Parts: sequence; C-alpha cells; structure tokens
Amino acid sequence: MNKIIVDKEYEIAPVERDVWGSFIEHMGRAVYGGIYEPTHPTAEKDGFRGDVRKIVKELGVPMIRYPGGNFLSGYDWKDGIGTDRPRRLDLAWGQLEPNEVGIHEFNAWAQSVGSRVMMSVNLGTGTPREAAQLVEYCNFEKGTYWSDLRRRNGREKPFAIDMWCLGNEMDGEWQIGHLTAEEYGKKADEAAKQMKWVDKDIKLVVCGSSSPSMKTYPDWDATVLRHTYENVDYISLHRYYSYEKSEREFDLMSSHTDFEAFISTVCATADYVKAGLRSKKTMMLSVDEWNVWHTRPVFNCREVYSDNDEARWTIGPRRAENVYDLTDAVALAGLVCTLINHADRVKAGCLAQLVNVIAPVMTENGGRVYKQTTYYPFAMAIAYAKGTAIRTAINTQKLESVYGDTEKIYAACTYDNGVFSLFVINKSDENETCALDFASSVVRMTERFEMAGQPHAYNDFAHPDNVVPVRVKAEEWSSRKFEIRLPKHSFTLMRFVEE
Ligand code: AHR
Repeated sequence: MNKIIVDKEYEIAPVERDVWGSFIEHMGRAVYGGIYEPTHPTAEKDGFRGDVRKIVKELGVPMIRYPGGNFLSGYDWKDGIGTDRPRRLDLAWGQLEPNEVGIHEFNAWAQSVGSRVMMSVNLGTGTPREAAQLVEYCNFEKGTYWSDLRRRNGREKPFAIDMWCLGNEMDGEWQIGHLTAEEYGKKADEAAKQMKWVDKDIKLVVCGSSSPSMKTYPDWDATVLRHTYENVDYISLHRYYSYEKSEREFDLMSSHTDFEAFISTVCATADYVKAGLRSKKTMMLSVDEWNVWHTRPVFNCREVYSDNDEARWTIGPRRAENVYDLTDAVALAGLVCTLINHADRVKAGCLAQLVNVIAPVMTENGGRVYKQTTYYPFAMAIAYAKGTAIRTAINTQKLESVYGDTEKIYAACTYDNGVFSLFVINKSDENETCALDFASSVVRMTERFEMAGQPHAYNDFAHPDNVVPVRVKAEEWSSRKFEIRLPKHSFTLMRFVEE
C-alpha cells in the first residue's frame, strides 16, 4: 500500500509568503480587457474592473510581478507616468500599448487587491542608469528630480517597492536586446550596483535560464552569478509544462519531477559559484514564472497563441488564452508540492500569469469572469501552504515518465500553529489507498478537499463550476495513523489539527 510519513520534527524551512506570488504582464488581455476596462459595467472610477478586483483580492496573492515578461525589454517606464501617454508598438507581442496603465495605476490597483508589486527593470533596450532612476522615482522620499516628479504625478509617499527583477529572460534570442551571459552578467551587475546605491534595502533578482531546455543552461546561470553574486539576492527560474514531449496525462502530471531536477540543478550551480568565489552568502531562488502552458492545441485547449492579422497591432488582443482542465490542475498541484518541498531555497515565486494570459482568472470583454481549474490548487497553496515545510517520506510505486522514473503519488506538507496541511496528487488511473503516519503527533482531520473526475473536464463562462474542489467528509477520530482513499487522477488537500 502507498504510505506517507510526516514527522513535524523533520523541517525543511519556513515557506515564504512570496513563493505564492503571481504575474501580470502587458500582454494580450492581461491588463487591457483583463484587470483594466473603463467601459465595463463593474469598472470603478480608476477604470479597473470591480469584478476582477474582487476575485483577485479573494485569491490573496501576496506579490505581483510587473510589467513583463518579454514586454519589459522594449518598455520605457517613463511612457507610463504623467499626462502624456504615448501609444507605442509593443514589439514583443505585436500589439499596441496605449500606456493608460503605468506604475501609478498598477501600484494603486495592486494595493487595492492586497498585493505588493515585484517591479522589473528593462535591461534589453534599457540601461542601468534608467533602472536606477526608476528606483529613485519609486522609492526615494523627495527632493530630487525623479522623486519630486513622482510627487507631482500624484504620489506623495514613495511606492516603497522592495523586490526588483533585473530584466527578463535575457538568455533568449526572442528577447528584445538579448545578450550573452557575459554581457548580461556585466550589465546586470552594474544595474544592481546603481539601484542599490539609490536604495540599499531593495532585493534583486538576476535572470537565470529561461528554461532548462536552453542550450546555454546551466552555464548561463553560473556565468551570470559569477558577475553578480554579491550584488543580487535571488536567481530567477522560469518553467512551463505542456504535452510537448508526450500526450500522456501521466507525463503532464509528472512535470513536478522535472521541476525538482531544475530547482536542484540551479541550487547546485549557485553553490558551485559560491564555492569558487569563497562567498559566505547562499543564493536564493525566485521561480518567477511557472505554470502549465499549452503552446499547441490539445484536448479542449485550442487557443494557444493567436497572433493573427486581425489581432496584430490592436490593444488587448487575445494571446495565450489557455483553457485548463482537471489534468492541468493536478499537474499544477504537483508543481505547488515541489515549491513547498524546496522551501529552503525557493524564497519567491510567481504563477505566470494571473488574468487571461495562461491564467487562473478569465474575463469576457464587457462581460463575465470565471475561475479556471488551475485557480483552485493555487488558491489552496496561498491559503494553506504557510508556516514550515515538513519533509514527507513517500513510499509508493515508481513509474516511468518522460521526465524519468517518478512516484505514482506525490505530496508536500506544511505545519503552521498546530495544523498540518497535506497536499497530495494521485497520478494513477486507479483509485488508491494511502496510509498516513504522523510519527509522534496525534492529529484529528478537520478538512478534506478533492479535485477529481473526468481528466479533461474544464470550466467556462457558461459552466464556471464544472470543476471545483469538493469538500469531502473528514475522518472524525484522533490518531497518529490514517488510511485514506485517493481518487484516480486527483488532487487532495487534507488539514489535520494536532491534539
Ligand atoms: O508569461 C509569458 C511569457 O513567457 C513572458 O513574457 C516571458 O518571460 C516568458 O517567455
């Protein structure tokens, strides 16, 4: 039988709230037609949709990365301040950028949904000097050109942005202003130095590889870190999963196996650089783009990109509006488990993205909003994956996947104030029984949620609650050991209170 042992004495590390961040890019209908739509019936005075604001606020993401993404590398932040807002071509996504939403508007919106902004500086067409000026604009109190300009633009107090990304995916040839690792390492270090001279308290994320499939991975990460090590706080990881290697649902649900390997390799690479530099500092990881992203049509997900003639050079065209099904949600729950299991090194993260573009929240222009299947495991991570990550010892069958041998059942656990939250996925085609052993803790199960059913069932505007977590009756007795049923192809969250 499958068995999971959880012993609260075997701690991994505290789970940082920032691991459950998300991302909004000026891409597709994320901003225009997503969060911002002045003509929408629920739009508030600031032009942002009230219905979307409500749903995002309820989700409770602690931090939102902004404004890109590939968009960032051609973006001039000065276009998004003051009264003169030029309309520009966004070369990254082939759409029009009206610049109606800029730093001020986005910060106010993020604050209204209870999130902090993780700001990014353009190191494609942008310079270290402009990056430092942006920090001055956002974070310097007053009495200088940029800080006083911010105040004249209506924001007296600094935005006090504490997390900053040094560019985006600069290893990719698709990136505007793409650089070699040497070139980027030097430029990022220079930007980091100047930005921290403006505000010594900010935390900086340097671009790691945009995927482990890059030819330059992991040398890119090592070279970049050699240049920047003492001036940055995190290295970024980006990773999306799809059916690219196989069409088996089991393989997609086993994405966590590759995610584990990616995170472990970046840790090893960073530690190798640390050793070479004789540094005392351990580099932390920011997984600031992760998700399931279908880039070719599969099952019910047909619209994978949509860069067609009608959509080109319009404001808020459809881009990457993936429809997610139950299998995608189980795969995403597996990735959530991996982030928890690596809480010792992964200190920040962003589910990419939040609204309309490969997103858990979908909107209709002028109309409704609904939650995709993937909303739920992410929402449960935000709500319950807190406190300390605890090691889970899993005894289950190993099966072959495109990512190598992998567990049939995969799990992660957190412990917070006497409450265990156990996240489990069952990837097999059979209902399974699993023994749970809490070692020295006597616990009572208080809640249990399941997402199970038809593997390709999905939600849409007409059927928004087709796939939702179901609250299953919790076991009533107190014990150190339980035997639970895990439906095939499912995600289960169980909560246990220590007696
Ligand atoms: O999140 C969508 C895109 O994926 C981002 O713009 C880019 O950074 C990544 O390739």
